[in-house]
Amino acid sequence: MEITKKNNLHGEVAWESPANIALVKYWGKLPGQLPMNPSLSFTLRESVVRIKMKYFLGAGSPAGLRSFNLNGKVNPSFQGRISKYIQAMQAHYPFLHNATLDIESQSTFPHSAGIASSAAAFSALALALGSIEVELAGSHNPDGEAFLRKASFAARLGSGSAARSLFGGFTVWGKSTLFPKASDDFAVKIPENEIHPVFRNLHDSILIVDDSEKAVSSSAGHALMDRHNFRESRISQAEKNLGHLMFALKNGDEQNFAAIVENEALTLHGLMMSSRPGYILMKPGTIALIDKIRDFRNKQNIYICFTLDAGPNIHLIYSDKDAEKVRPFIQQELLPLCVNGRWMDDGVGAGPQRL
Ligand code: PMV
Repeated sequence: MEITKKNNLHGEVAWESPANIALVKYWGKLPGQLPMNPSLSFTLRESVVRIKMKYFLGAGSPAGLRSFNLNGKVNPSFQGRISKYIQAMQAHYPFLHNATLDIESQSTFPHSAGIASSAAAFSALALALGSIEVELAGSHNPDGEAFLRKASFAARLGSGSAARSLFGGFTVWGKSTLFPKASDDFAVKIPENEIHPVFRNLHDSILIVDDSEKAVSSSAGHALMDRHNFRESRISQAEKNLGHLMFALKNGDEQNFAAIVENEALTLHGLMMSSRPGYILMKPGTIALIDKIRDFRNKQNIYICFTLDAGPNIHLIYSDKDAEKVRPFIQQELLPLCVNGRWMDDGVGAGPQRL
């Protein structure tokens, strides 16, 4: 932060923040971007967004987002969404009432990989806003729990699942009797000693089956849960799956872990299909990969499993101890079913980093 003249402050902050992959899915929301059910995810290591946010206070320019670019290019649709977000954040970061912002962002997600980067982007934005607030208050130690909690709260208001990207390892978002610390307002990290070593370095090999834009957005999908026939049973299923998954994570129960993770992925897509109107985001390649993954698991007795986001691409989840055996299977059997053999080699990450 520099003070150029009285009441004229400017400075720059930069953050890198990751995407996350949900194992118990958030699907359906309540007003205020609150989750209909609790969810659990792990934070990714390689799929990250880096942002540099410059701020000018009292510079004479109108308050709000002045410029935004993604990977060196102007991106009007993203700029519009972020501009609205920054405006809404005035209620939580009062300095925004007279701050002009210039944002440069970069994403490691390959162009049009069909992978949503909004969790990484909104968590990075929330962290940058929090850092500026801390700097303006004259403090230089923005790593405390309260700082991350506020960032998770603010990220949630940009994109629900972004609430879970603020912490390394495994995270829960959404209140649940099974995890008393959990809240609808922000996500919390599951303590490391609640995660068995076999799960601490999980791999997530993201297999790109289709890289086109999805026909139905996540927001439209969430909205269809409002009057879904299975709404109430979905809420209680998510609660139960959360409890069973936390138990499996703690006890190193790979068999149950795989069963719950796949049940959640197929339920998510089942809910899409049974919405009114129903829709299908899986592609023939998705099903072909699922068949191969299950076949490999049954024959090799290695507990690999898959999960899916709101899209057709497969996240292949496996333990680090099995990586040597799973790699040739990916190369020989799975990549031929991916668009141009594309995949992303990701896994559990340590969380955001100030740059
Ligand atoms: O955060 P949103 O609104 O993009 O919703 C994400 C929903 C899923 O990715 C399908 C599940 C989840 O919990 O991340």
